[in-house]
Amino acid sequence: MMVILDAVLSAEDVALLRDRLAASAWGDGRATAGPAARDVKRNEQARGEEAAALQGFVRRALERHPVFVSAARPRRMSAILFSRYGVGMAYGRHTDDAVMGAGEHRLRADLAFTLFLASPDSYEGGALRVESAIGAQEIKLEPGQAVLYPAGSIHEVTPVTAGERLAAVGWVESLVPGQAERDVLFQLEQTRAQLAAEGAAAGSLLRLDQVGSNLMRLWARP
Ligand code: NI
Repeated sequence: MMVILDAVLSAEDVALLRDRLAASAWGDGRATAGPAARDVKRNEQARGEEAAALQGFVRRALERHPVFVSAARPRRMSAILFSRYGVGMAYGRHTDDAVMGAGEHRLRADLAFTLFLASPDSYEGGALRVESAIGAQEIKLEPGQAVLYPAGSIHEVTPVTAGERLAAVGWVESLVPGQAERDVLFQLEQTRAQLAAEGAAAGSLLRLDQVGSNLMRLWARP
């Protein structure tokens, strides 16, 4: 399942992030690609102390986002990469490494996310194209919005033909390894929110919470 996350960052936060990224050092994105993806990855990534400091800013914003928490059930998150695609740059079809990082930072990449940082009017091309059983979906969001999608999908960033695409990307190891199980938990939480909004009795909501909590007991691998 693919989930759009609205307003992960406010317009002010996006502007602040963009200013600080503009002052960062940038390098070839192939430095952080796995062996298979290296051949198709053509972008630039922020590096150095400034970029490292900005990672926490994005991570905390995601951790505060209720839809992110409900859909991803995050156990841990990878380093966050800030990527820039100028004209002619792209990231061809690939699938992400299942296991990333080293030592204590090693994680299983269950989900990937892209947080958009440039207005879609400011560049052409540069869509995230994710393939699934029901066909491919092209995603290009407003600055501050993010998409969460299965890291095991085949996906790409289509070539930028004008302007510049700027985004933050990263991966999540979920407490719940299976996508099907995560989907059920997400659907249950959406249902609970809808019933609460419709004024359902507290006792009924408590029974639903019990179901959600006991499904987590069955499926979570903390
Ligand atoms: Ni990827």
